[in-house]
Amino acid sequence: MPTWLALLSKQGQLTQWEWLAMPALPANRGLPTWPRRTYCPTMLIVLTNTKGGVGKSTLAAHLVLWLHDRRVRVALLDTDEQQTAARWVRGAEPAVEIVVATDVESIRKAKNELTQRVDVVVADSPGSGGEASHSITMLADLAIVPLQPSKPDIRAVKDALKFVSLAREMSGGSKPDVRIVLTFTAKGDIQSRRLRDELAALDVPVARSEIRRLNAFRDSCDSAVHRMSSRDAVQAAHDIETLFSELLGEHLSRWKLPNKEVVHG
Ligand SMILES: Nc1ncnc2c1ncn2[C@@H]1O[C@H](COP(=O)(O)OP(=O)(O)O)[C@@H](O)[C@H]1O
Ligand SMILES: [Mg+2]
Repeated sequence: MPTWLALLSKQGQLTQWEWLAMPALPANRGLPTWPRRTYCPTMLIVLTNTKGGVGKSTLAAHLVLWLHDRRVRVALLDTDEQQTAARWVRGAEPAVEIVVATDVESIRKAKNELTQRVDVVVADSPGSGGEASHSITMLADLAIVPLQPSKPDIRAVKDALKFVSLAREMSGGSKPDVRIVLTFTAKGDIQSRRLRDELAALDVPVARSEIRRLNAFRDSCDSAVHRMSSRDAVQAAHDIETLFSELLGEHLSRWKLPNKEVVHG
């Protein structure tokens, strides 16, 4: 921990989460600074859930490629040692910057560096609570929580949401913004409707759009469903388009400004 930070803390003790929430320290000065970018601040979006197999990496890779294909400057920060999303995006789009970081220090460093270069950082997180998933949630502006429509999954999501709530509390209630996204759904699925009622009690916003269980998602590795033309892929691309437009539509026009220039202070 930097000395100035230790001195500022009550007994010279800050938890690693409090430390993560502090702004970056410049290399040659003794005081913290705010990011130099004064226009179009970078948004960090994390795909998180303590449960594996809910579609985090698939959605992270698709979000990166969907933004890239809309000429948004986007990078992938993969905090999962398995690197599913990193390998996927590397195979699909060599032009996208990818950083793999799995501990608090390297995640914070990667976030601060990428923030200087892109408008959106998409982060994938591992399918278990722990250092990487907690750190990246602390730093995120938006947490997307994919959830399969089943009772065990809804029980598990409560654990993931505990840490999102803590992060919000520590930031004064402002971030991360959070959206649960139902994945692996089926048309006319009664269970999904029941689940929505149950989730309403948790008081966490649930996206209207859902991601259906479609083989095209499984088969789109090293590409993206919106780049494919099979019937299944067209349906999957519709789900992706509807979801990402719902979650990020209001930001998209800002990121895509043709004459956007980063203004440095
Ligand atoms: N909407 C979907 N429909 C069908 N299969 C999917 C869908 N989303 C993901 N999959 C498949 O499910 C498995 C787990 O997905 P993944 O994105 O790796 O989950 P996580 O990152 O949460 O562990 C992978 O085999 C993936 O191809
Ligand atoms: Mg994964």
